[in-house]
Amino acid sequence: MYIYYALGFLALLLVVGIALYLITARSYESSDTVANSYDEWTQDGILEFYWGEHIHLGHYGSPPQRKDFLQAKADFVHEMVKWGGLDKLPTKTTVLDVGCGIGGSSRILAKEYEFEVTGVAISPKQVQRATELTPEGVTAKFQVDDALALSFPDNSFDVVWSIEAGPHMPDKAKYASEMMRVLKPGGILVVADWNQRDDRAFPLNFWEKPVIYHEINF
Ligand SMILES: C[S@@+](CC[C@H](N)C(=O)[O-])C[C@H]1O[C@@H](n2cnc3c(N)ncnc32)[C@H](O)[C@@H]1O
Repeated sequence: MYIYYALGFLALLLVVGIALYLITARSYESSDTVANSYDEWTQDGILEFYWGEHIHLGHYGSPPQRKDFLQAKADFVHEMVKWGGLDKLPTKTTVLDVGCGIGGSSRILAKEYEFEVTGVAISPKQVQRATELTPEGVTAKFQVDDALALSFPDNSFDVVWSIEAGPHMPDKAKYASEMMRVLKPGGILVVADWNQRDDRAFPLNFWEKPVIYHEINF
């Protein structure tokens, strides 16, 4: 008898959980709301206080090991450089950092690899903060631009780089095609984003499919 009560209670919890998720999940409104949220987070300084200059996940080694949270984020940038083969490129290589945040990656690419970096973000306050954090002589500059309608001509950059901006894009195909449009022929596109696992090895289940295809946005 008790088993039926327990099952009934679990079913009730499941229904309440799903209802709460559906009621509280934020759906995408516009690029303005994304920009406003990042503007606010930049102005209050909390994100920068805890996460430093990088608004992305870290690299903890292979096999993973304990390391400083902020160091892991910087290490991630270097791993991505190696993964994309950018460490073999000459100095003055031109790089577009799409969705650059407050410029953490852009500054590493400029300072440590001597690339000519342009960072773009949808948030004016992030662009302002990125500029403030970039010392004179570091070859990284920043501007407000929409990844879905980049203001650069075709074939502008040797490398296009983007970390964890994709979830904000309501049109992923446009995000990809804009990055490819401004990339020079033979250039390198390096993009990183969250992905729990490779769905070619373990296909998404009935619950994951709608979640993954539903844009998680502001
Ligand atoms: C999670 S943060 C990542 C920031 C940066 N790539 C980093 O790793 O520190 C997402 C970034 O995407 C930018 N972004 C979101 N929508 C955008 C759009 N439509 N065009 C350009 N940037 C956008 C935000 O302004 C923010 O800088």
